Amino acid sequence: MKEKRSSFTSSIGFVMAAAGSAIGLGNLWRFPYLAAQHGGGIFILVYVVLALTFGFTMLMTEIAIGRKTKLSSIVAYKKLDKRFGFLGYLAFLVPLIILPYYSVIGGWVLKYMVVFFTGKGGAAADDGFFSAYVGSTVSPLIYFLIFFIATMLVIICGVEKGIERASRFLMPVLFVITVGVCIYIMTIPGSAEGIKYYLLPDFSKFSLKTVCAAMGQLFFSMSIAMGIMVSYGSYVKDDVNLSKAVNHIEIYDTLIALLAGFMIIPAVYMFSGEEGLKSSGVGLMFMTLPKVFDSMPMGNIVGACFFVLVLVAALTSSISIMEATVSMAMDRFKLSRNKAAILIFVISIVLGIPSSLGNGAWSHIKLIGMDFLTFFDFVTNSVLMPVVAFGTCILVGWCLGTKVIEDEITKNGEKFSRLAIFRVMLKYIAPVCMVVILLFYTLSQFGIISV
Ligand code: PFF
Repeated sequence: MKEKRSSFTSSIGFVMAAAGSAIGLGNLWRFPYLAAQHGGGIFILVYVVLALTFGFTMLMTEIAIGRKTKLSSIVAYKKLDKRFGFLGYLAFLVPLIILPYYSVIGGWVLKYMVVFFTGKGGAAADDGFFSAYVGSTVSPLIYFLIFFIATMLVIICGVEKGIERASRFLMPVLFVITVGVCIYIMTIPGSAEGIKYYLLPDFSKFSLKTVCAAMGQLFFSMSIAMGIMVSYGSYVKDDVNLSKAVNHIEIYDTLIALLAGFMIIPAVYMFSGEEGLKSSGVGLMFMTLPKVFDSMPMGNIVGACFFVLVLVAALTSSISIMEATVSMAMDRFKLSRNKAAILIFVISIVLGIPSSLGNGAWSHIKLIGMDFLTFFDFVTNSVLMPVVAFGTCILVGWCLGTKVIEDEITKNGEKFSRLAIFRVMLKYIAPVCMVVILLFYTLSQFGIISV
């Protein structure tokens, strides 16, 4: 453990590792479909405002808690205040529940990569391809297992460093391909309407639901309220300028999400109008991009490269999720690394199988009206993460005082940009928002308010 704590040798190493965890399916798969469902431009506006205020505040707080305590989240909260020890356990539950369904979607990406590599990208552009595929039984389970076992092997063999080095090179390539596809989209006649839908906010589409969805997405995308950033913070050296590092992580993560949306939403708008945007749900990325690649010269090759890079982004994130769960299980239950990995493996298989089958063979089984994958996504993003974030705000804003975090951030005389926003957000606005989100989702689940 000690060795690991000093493992980020430089600020850039830390920023790249944290960005590797943050940038993943959340940006490329989840963000576009939520933006599509929640009114395009207005969702983007709400998301960006929240990222620059709330996201930044939580990221700063969690990383500073980690660096100050030099402990992983399962014990860090307890060290700061005994009454808040429960936050560590809740934060442990989040990645534990996310990992299985994240790996199911990672499996879908792997399948699409294989489809493009075998020259069948055209078939993937057909309307029924995605739903027929995720509705089948054996193949999605096998791809889920391959994705999950690849993640586990990295954890057991400890080759994260190699992956980190590779992704330093591959992430910029993903960025370039994404920008390239965005430019291509702009050149297609008729894309202007879709781009307008994506970029121009229509305030008549604004509702509390937009804010709640954007907030849940922010948690997921920036890997906050799940203990990960606290653990990452515990590995950061004291002379790293946290303020700057957080700004970089926040900017990279948001930029990739915005570009992914730009790649997907105008295209769906062109192919199937506003109705298509609302109805596609979790399949949006998988249904739209093959159509875009199909319409471009050398689309099969571009598509294959794209899905390889999405896979790398997904793997760097799933590795960080599994690493977090394994190290927390080691800390808490005093297990060896291998035993902890096996425990997480068993839990992930038990939760991953229903997440995969819930789109087909088990689609008749519903948990509070949702299939398994949607339910796990809901419980983590809309319930557990707001509770952890609320607890963190109360702990730091009201019990310890924001000065503890401010001092940690400025201890080498660094400038704390957006300090006023940080204080107001942490003490007042964020806790109120968390209570509103929890109330909103609870009441709507019981049909007391309609969504
Ligand atoms: N932030 C990652 C993404 O956007 O894909 C997902 C993620 C990473 C979720 C780490 C949970 C986690 F612990």
